[in-house]
Parts: sequence; C-alpha cells; structure tokens
Amino acid sequence: MSDLPHFSFGIPILELVYVVASVLFVFGLKMLSHPLTARRGNFLAAIGMVSAIVATLLFHRKDGEPIRNIALILVAIVIGTAIGWTIAKRVKMTAMPQLVSFFNGMGGAAAALISILEFPHVSPDLIARTGMANGHVLAILLGLMIGTISWAGSMIAFGKLDGRIGDLRVKAMKYVNLAILLVLIGFIVFIMTRHVNASSELSTYVYMMFALSVVYGVLFVMPIGGADMPVVISLLNSFTGVAAAMGGFLYNNQAMLTGGILVGSAGTILTVLMCKAMNRSLLNVIVGVFGGGGESVATAAGSIREITMSDAAVLLAYSKKVVIVPGYGLAVAQAQHACHELDKLLDEKGVEVKYAIHPVAGRMPGHMNVLLAEADVPYEQLIESDEINPDLPNTDVLVVIGANDVVNPAAEDDPSSPIYGMPIVKARDARNIIVMKRGMGKGYAAIENLLFYNDKTRMLFGDAKATLQNLVNEIKNL
Ligand code: TAP
Repeated sequence: MSDLPHFSFGIPILELVYVVASVLFVFGLKMLSHPLTARRGNFLAAIGMVSAIVATLLFHRKDGEPIRNIALILVAIVIGTAIGWTIAKRVKMTAMPQLVSFFNGMGGAAAALISILEFPHVSPDLIARTGMANGHVLAILLGLMIGTISWAGSMIAFGKLDGRIGDLRVKAMKYVNLAILLVLIGFIVFIMTRHVNASSELSTYVYMMFALSVVYGVLFVMPIGGADMPVVISLLNSFTGVAAAMGGFLYNNQAMLTGGILVGSAGTILTVLMCKAMNRSLLNVIVGVFGGGGESVATAAGSIREITMSDAAVLLAYSKKVVIVPGYGLAVAQAQHACHELDKLLDEKGVEVKYAIHPVAGRMPGHMNVLLAEADVPYEQLIESDEINPDLPNTDVLVVIGANDVVNPAAEDDPSSPIYGMPIVKARDARNIIVMKRGMGKGYAAIENLLFYNDKTRMLFGDAKATLQNLVNEIKNL
C-alpha cells in the first residue's frame, strides 16, 4: 500500500474512500427500511458506490502499476449506465419485480465471470506454499457456484414473473436438486485437494462446475410458482450479495466486501422473514419445493352476487369499522389516490378506516406500502395482516381492492392448493365483504378463490380506479 497516494498524516486515500463508501452503504440501507427515507437512502448508497468506483479507477495500484484499459472500462460503464438508466426509466411500477430479478441476475453473472477469469491466475507462489487448499481458491469457487446459480435462477424468475415461463413441478425434483448441490460441493473439495503446479491445469473442472451450477439454478427455480416467487427472489438477491463478497475477498477490496455482505445479509434476513410470513421452510426454498405441490381442487361453488354502487356507498358510509385490503389490481389501476380519497371521506363521516397489508400483496416486497405512501396515506393506518386478523370479526365491511391470492381461503382449507399454508388476510371473518375487480380473473397463483362465492361477499365489478371514483361521488351525494 506504500505506493498509494497518502494524506500528510499517512492514510491511504483509497482505503479512506472505501470506509466512507461502506458507511454510506450502511446508512443507505438503514434508510431504505422506511418509505419516507427510502429515496434518500438509495441516493446515499449510490453516492457511496460512485465514489468507490471513481477512487478505484484513480488510485488502485497493483505491483505499483495503475489500472490499465481505463478507456475500455469507461466505455463499458457508459454503455451499462445508458442501458440500465433507459430500462429503469421506462419500466412500469408493476413490472418492477422482473426488472429487479434481471438486474440481480446480472450481478450474479458478473461475480461468476470474475471467478472464471481469476481461476487460472491463482499465484503459483501461493500454490507452492499451500497447494490448492487456500482461501483464494475457495473464494473463487464459491463465487463461481453462487454467482452462477443466482444468474441462472434469476433469469428463470424473470421469465416466470414476465409470464414467459410456466411452472414445472415433478416430485423427484427435490432429490435431484439436493444431489446436484452435493455434487457441486464435491467439486469444490475435489479441486481444492488436487496437487498441481498451476491452477490452470484444473480449468476443465471449473467449467464443469459452471455448467452444473447453471443446471441447478434453472431446476431449483422451475417448480416455484405463484405466491412463492417473492421468497425465491429474495433468496437469489442474497446469493448475488454473497457472490460479490467473494470478489471482495479475492481482490482485498473492502468496499466490494462490505457491499456484498450487506446485500447478502439483508437478503438472507428478508428471505427468513418471508419464509415465516409464507409459512415455508428455508430448506424447501433452497431445493425449490414449496406449497401444496399440486393443482388446487377448489372449484366455483355457489353463485356470485353483485352490489350496486349506491348500496355499496350506503353500506360503507353507515359502518363503524372498515378495513381495506389492497392488492396487485390497485397498483395496475393506479387507484391509490382514489382509494385515499375514499378513506378520507369515510373518516369525515366518523368511520374508522384501516388498511390490511399482506407481506406479498402486489408484486414486490413493500409494494402496497410504497403505493399508499405515494398517495400520502398515513403510515399508522397500514396494519400488517397478522395484526389486523383478530380484529376482522368486529369489522363491518372489508373492501378487497384488486387483491385475490392474499385473501384466498384455499391457503387454509385446501391442502392440495399451491398456496396452502400461506398466511392470508382472513377476509371471510368480516361481517360484510365487498370485492372490487374487473371480472372473474384469477390472481397470480392462477387458482379459484371461493371467497367470491361466500354468502357475505358482494362483487363490485370494474377497473378499481373508476369504481373508487364513482363510489366517492356516490358517498358525497348521500
Ligand atoms: P393477485 O392475486 O395477483 O390478484 C390481483 C387481482 O387484481 C386479479 O385477480 C385481477 O382480477 C385484479 N385486477 C387486475 N387489474 C385490475 C384493475 N385494473 N382493477 C381492479 N382489479 C384488477 O394479487 P394479490 O392478492 O396482491 O397477490 C399477490 C400475488 O403475487 C401473490 O400470489 C404473491 O405471492 C405474488 N407475488 C408477489 C410478489 C411480492 S414480493 N409482493 C412478487 C411476485 C409475486 P381481474 O382480472 O378480474 O380484474
């Protein structure tokens, strides 16, 4: 480090910038945990990342030499920034999960490429001293395996979320996946216990590991469907973080290490929380087996009953307690402002209005919180579904707006359903239920919902925004 530019009191600039960047990552991440501070948090972390990149380009030295090919690196940065910026600007809010999955996959691919490129260059001195069993080789192989799985899995998740790839469920897959995972670990042990003069002699095994990791990434995401996608996306996110951290070890780069560890640990914590929220086990997530594992047997029973706009207005305006369950359809219709108008109007009439927020409502973690924050719905009105469920029997009207899977009683009643075991908003416990949706379209898990046939349920068909606006006018005219 002696050849790095130093401040007069002896601190290398590069190290200092990495520490500052790491601190910005930590504060940025902390701020992401609340909708009001999330934007600034993201910006702060981005400043950290830009400073780390610029400082690396300017001050990094290897054997006293600065970074070569700066022009090529800059061209790659400009192209990548232009593509990323354009896609992110154009993407619709509801297509965010696909985008996140795609970008996450690119992170995994970058980590895997680093490993493939660095493996043949492990220092011969190090190999002479330790053989292949050293931290350097381990970091390369783990980065390769985890990064590749994350890339392949994220691409399948992208295809599924975008509706291009369906589910493939075969019972034996769990065992096949476990076997592949064991073979991959076997490869790592095999490579690290070989006696060679140069790591390049073992490159073939590294390519085999790469191919097997691609197969594993594809197979473990293929069976996962519908309601379980958020958990797997969160897991893939943590994989990319861990793979990037391996790069940090490899290059002795503190900013890369901290960034990777933060993404890896935040993703792992989110995965564990989601597993809890969805009542799934972590091992089943890792080997790609979730849910009831079959087609739902629920078939339409009874009849659908509609409610007129004026009856809905009277029912709501003369209630004491109303709970709104927002879902993906609210986001599609961009009806969050109209929804807040309804809740303000009811509040003026002395009705207590709360929102029941399900952890996977919509298409990304926190989707409903972000959507409702955009319309300035006070945060205190948003109650987690677990917390509000016991209160539903005392609720006069529960209004489901563009939600489907998160209120589907099959999760409690039908062991063959793919969403069986997932906690839901117990909508049927409320005294009256109004469901706003355009027609009898199914939810993300593509299964029948018997809540719509419940005796207490009345349907209010139409686009959520138009329906809410009409309802607001109707209540104003009462
Ligand atoms: P969904 O089960 O997807 O149901 C949304 C409903 O909204 C549909 O049944 C649709 O019925 C209705 N809808 C669509 N456009 C509408 C519009 N313009 N106006 C009114 N209604 C409209 O939504 P959910 O209950 O929020 O559940 C989310 C699902 O997505 C879960 O299965 C979850 O696991 C999955 N998922 C979640 C995430 C995260 S992290 N949140 C990520 C990936 C997947 P019509 O067609 O009849 O209108």
